[in-house]
Amino acid sequence: MTLAPLRAAARSHRQRPVGLAPTESPVDGAVLVLHDVTKAYPNGNVALRDVDLVVPEGDFVFLVGPSGAGKSTLIKLIIRDEIATTGAVILDGQDLARLARRQVPKVRRKIGIIFQDFKLLPTKTVRENVAFALEVTGTPSREIGPAVDRVLALVGLTAQARQLPGTLSGGEQQRTAIARALVHDPRMIIADEPTGNLDPLISWEILQLLLRINELGVTVLMATHNAEIVTALRKRVVALEDGRIIRDEEAAAYHRED
Ligand SMILES: Nc1ncnc2c1ncn2[C@@H]1O[C@H](COP(=O)(O)OP(=O)(O)O)[C@@H](O)[C@H]1O
Ligand SMILES: [Mg+2]
Repeated sequence: MTLAPLRAAARSHRQRPVGLAPTESPVDGAVLVLHDVTKAYPNGNVALRDVDLVVPEGDFVFLVGPSGAGKSTLIKLIIRDEIATTGAVILDGQDLARLARRQVPKVRRKIGIIFQDFKLLPTKTVRENVAFALEVTGTPSREIGPAVDRVLALVGLTAQARQLPGTLSGGEQQRTAIARALVHDPRMIIADEPTGNLDPLISWEILQLLLRINELGVTVLMATHNAEIVTALRKRVVALEDGRIIRDEEAAAYHRED
């Protein structure tokens, strides 16, 4: 089963006693650590300032904040589309600024990414879109078919496998993107406004799927404007404003409640 190692890792993390052993810091067991991160773009825009964030294995985190707050920039740093100007972004123990170029693809495979606009290849079928993610990483072809079948079943798209993206609903397209993000067995799923183009009902379906994936042991970080969903689910909320983290709260609502 594709996700079995992830499940086991998440279980062992959750079963750890709350009090940390003397040699253990909160950073141990974290999938993602941002330490004092600042990001200034070449034109002088400062998108992130003094950002500190620790995401333990198995966590589900909503990243919220108004447009321009820095959510997408934070995500770009995690997938190494951009490099922090100062500070460190550490994914699964590896400092992304110190990676050699040839190590980048291997580290990127630890993450599955989902976007608002799905980013599917329009001339490939659902199955081909998902398989392509494995083909480009040189996965042996005999392993690709079974892996694709598993994730399509997980997202409920087995019956649509031969359709082109243009013949699918928005929700089905996003589920295809989720299958593609999962197919290489990532440690973490990162979603940048994944429900931004979807109706409320379909948005809830996508959230149910992400919650299920999280229950299988995959860490989830989701940037969103969707206050209703965030407030209803009572997960960890990290709020950005003008590039700074202004709130980081467990079991929280979209807006500050005190
Ligand atoms: N490539 C870029 N070059 C210059 N400034 C950028 C770039 N991308 C984003 N910004 C700026 O960085 C800030 C944060 O943007 P972004 O991370 O996209 O925020 P959000 O996703 O929360 O809307 C904004 O002021 C935005 O204009
Ligand atoms: Mg954004």
